[in-house]
Amino acid sequence: MFISFEGIDGSGKSTQAKRLAQALRESGRDVVLTREPGGSTGAEEIRALVLQGDPDRWSAETELLLFTAARRDHMERLIAPALTAGKWVICDRFADSTRMYQGLSRGDLRGHVDKLHQMMIGREPDLTFLIDIDPTVGLSRAKARNGTEERFEDFGLELQKKMRAGFLALAAQFPERFRLIDGARDADAVAADVLHHALQACA
Ligand code: ADP
Ligand code: TYD
Repeated sequence: MFISFEGIDGSGKSTQAKRLAQALRESGRDVVLTREPGGSTGAEEIRALVLQGDPDRWSAETELLLFTAARRDHMERLIAPALTAGKWVICDRFADSTRMYQGLSRGDLRGHVDKLHQMMIGREPDLTFLIDIDPTVGLSRAKARNGTEERFEDFGLELQKKMRAGFLALAAQFPERFRLIDGARDADAVAADVLHHALQACA
């Protein structure tokens, strides 16, 4: 199974990706937990380029190429070999983030995103958890981390609102692989919900 977690910044994706990996490992499954941008050596180098610095450091078009290059490396070196070996792959963000952040956020590049994805990646997750949360809550959780990778958070609340609406529309567009999860509950309740859906999907 190839599972991705999506949602706005601070929605709880990383927390839940870790919890799901742990639960599946405890039940004897072989799990690779990874993230985007990043997940392979080359892609982690690209991560630093796209997540640090001024919000206007890159145009949306340049970003799209950088994120896609990172994903291609990640897919070639980590995700595809792990799936071929029969492992579960859990990825904190994947191509749906590009559909939203580059495809929707600054100009309408969705057509380019989809074409590049088809040409260079050509694979969707089997299951995608959309952790949905009020953007004000998400942004305050994300800002409380006080990290250095804040380029996107620095675009502010309006962008997060647009991204939330976009993710909900994307989930409606691909209902067979998306599961909508209410991220406003405590982390234990969210984790139980996620595990239930993951086990149901592989049954
Ligand atoms: P994301 O990966 O979506 O940005 P994180 O999992 O890193 O989100 O969570 C952002 C912050 O919110 C972290 O400090 C985390 O500990 C906290 N957090 C995660 N899930 C919850 C939850 N259900 N309730 C309250 N705080 C949470
Ligand atoms: P991430 O580290 O998952 O941030 P967070 O934990 O705050 O959700 O991702 C960093 C940022 O990268 C996030 O704001 C969204 C952005 N991003 C894109 O713009 N395009 C992409 O394809 C991906 C994978 C991420």
